[in-house]
Amino acid sequence: MKEITIKDKKFAVSIPESYIQGEVKKLAERISQDLEGKNPLFLGVLNGSFMFAADLFRDISIPAQISFVKLASYEGTLSTGVIKEVIGLSENVTGRCIVIVEDIIDSGLTMQRLLENLGTRNPAEIHICTLLLKPENLKADLDVEYVALQIPNDFIVGYGLDYDGWGRNSRDIYTVVDD
Ligand code: IMP
Ligand code: MG
Repeated sequence: MKEITIKDKKFAVSIPESYIQGEVKKLAERISQDLEGKNPLFLGVLNGSFMFAADLFRDISIPAQISFVKLASYEGTLSTGVIKEVIGLSENVTGRCIVIVEDIIDSGLTMQRLLENLGTRNPAEIHICTLLLKPENLKADLDVEYVALQIPNDFIVGYGLDYDGWGRNSRDIYTVVDD
């Protein structure tokens, strides 16, 4: 089994590149069918979704646009803890069909924050698309319409996802190994 070490953790391949590619292609075909005639605007959430968004978008066969946003975390001055602000959205989303492209939905709180923010900008519709979903951990009430892969509640890296900024440049997805 191919193992890698990132900082203090060991990881082993859990989802090989070929399997990821197959599921991403199927998802792109489904989205293309569902959203035909809607000229969707895909919004990739940086940094984690960059690889998935590139592969997915290549296989979208209907007229579509893509842009990227980032959620910047900062400590609030009130007692609300960490606040996530949406930055980088320069497109006018009013009346548009939006597809949010995430790397992973874990608790779903990041996605919830993004939905709240986009909702105030009057899009016609918002669809959620994620490479990975950890269903056991989901706390927010979300309609996650497009999921490439469902995974157990273990920490993973690769294919854009990171451990403390490292590991994004792997074609396969790796899961942390307990030792
Ligand atoms: P949520 O707000 O709990 O859904 O968390 C979503 C964010 O947490 C993702 O966009 C990732 O940046 C990060 N995340 C959650 N699980 C993992 C993981 O297993 N590996 C790497 N990042 C993760
Ligand atoms: Mg992310």
